[in-house]
Amino acid sequence: MSDIEMDIEEEGERSPSPIRFSSSAKGKSKLKYEGVPPTGKDNLPWVEKYRPQTLEEIVSHEDVVSTIERFIEKDRVPHLLFYGPPGTGKTTAILAFARKLYGPSWKNMVLELNASDDRGINVVREEIKTYASMQRMFSNGFKLIILDEADSMTNAAQNALRRIVEKYTRNVRFCIICNYISKIIPAVQSRCTRFRFSPIKEKEARSRIEYIIQCENVNISPDGISALQKIANGDMRKALNVLQACHAAYNYIDETVVYKCTGNPEPEDIKYIVNTMLNDEFTTAYSNVQKLKREKGLALQDIVTEVHKYLNDFEIPRKAIVFLIDQLSQIQYNLSTGGTEHAQTASMVGTFKTALDMINK
Ligand SMILES: Nc1ncnc2c1ncn2[C@@H]1O[C@H](COP(=O)(O)OP(=O)(O)O)[C@@H](O)[C@H]1O
Ligand SMILES: [Mg+2]
Repeated sequence: MSDIEMDIEEEGERSPSPIRFSSSAKGKSKLKYEGVPPTGKDNLPWVEKYRPQTLEEIVSHEDVVSTIERFIEKDRVPHLLFYGPPGTGKTTAILAFARKLYGPSWKNMVLELNASDDRGINVVREEIKTYASMQRMFSNGFKLIILDEADSMTNAAQNALRRIVEKYTRNVRFCIICNYISKIIPAVQSRCTRFRFSPIKEKEARSRIEYIIQCENVNISPDGISALQKIANGDMRKALNVLQACHAAYNYIDETVVYKCTGNPEPEDIKYIVNTMLNDEFTTAYSNVQKLKREKGLALQDIVTEVHKYLNDFEIPRKAIVFLIDQLSQIQYNLSTGGTEHAQTASMVGTFKTALDMINK
């Protein structure tokens, strides 16, 4: 179900007293929430239940939010291009922007198309064009067309779009949303004002997560929250989905539960793997890694990612570190292009052995 459909069903069910930040300092350290949680949304996934409805509720993007608020104040809204990694609030921000811009009847003024809708060249030519050229009957502002997940639009469709963006600027504003800006053709990029949504800052993500933990009565330890944040890595959607899954499966959530729930290796596992690769002889190290993978159901992709991060704290010559990083990325690439787990695990162990030889030389 697309976000917009979800909103149509849920409209009007929000609690009358909105969640407010207890700090009145505008845009700064909005780290504590008060107020009651959204009601009437209990059957929704938490990512939807706790999707911020207003721009003020969005955390970690003070600069973006204050700039787009200024566009509304000055009545000078350009075409927008939001880009950045998943789960950072791009879709949320444009929907909150539309609510603020148009008020309760915002849905009448917005056309939202996302990756699940057909957005080939014909749709761009016909549907978007028809919507863009339609005259507004009761209002004299502009309409908003949101093209979410635009990475998946073909170049031909984007080329058709660029003409339409230009032609209908008088009565339509576009908001193009994507993960990778490089997937948007330069001609479309240059017609928009760009906003980068960076991964959510740790402190602000934590305070938002803690607020949801409180609303949902989740029994979680501080190291559980830290593990959650480590896995999510600034992706709020991931953090909330993992939190909800852990809450459904366990009465008490700690670090181990979080790693178990996601199938991610625990820091202890990574430490063990690196230790055995450095200190044991090849065959022993290889069978130790394989055994741990089997016992804990770990994927090599996840192990390689974590070992990669672990290397940062390593005190070995730079040359060996560079070699390891290079080889690990090659293993990651091989895995994603069909390399087998067995061969790539052996390759990882072998890589550490070669790095050791380099150090001992
Ligand atoms: N900046 C943010 N502040 C508060 N919640 C956020 C933020 N970004 C994401 N979220 C949470 O994550 C969910 C997914 O966000 P969304 O806007 O759909 O991300 P995307 O950047 O992938 O479009 C939201 O429903 C919300 O619960
Ligand atoms: Mg989105």
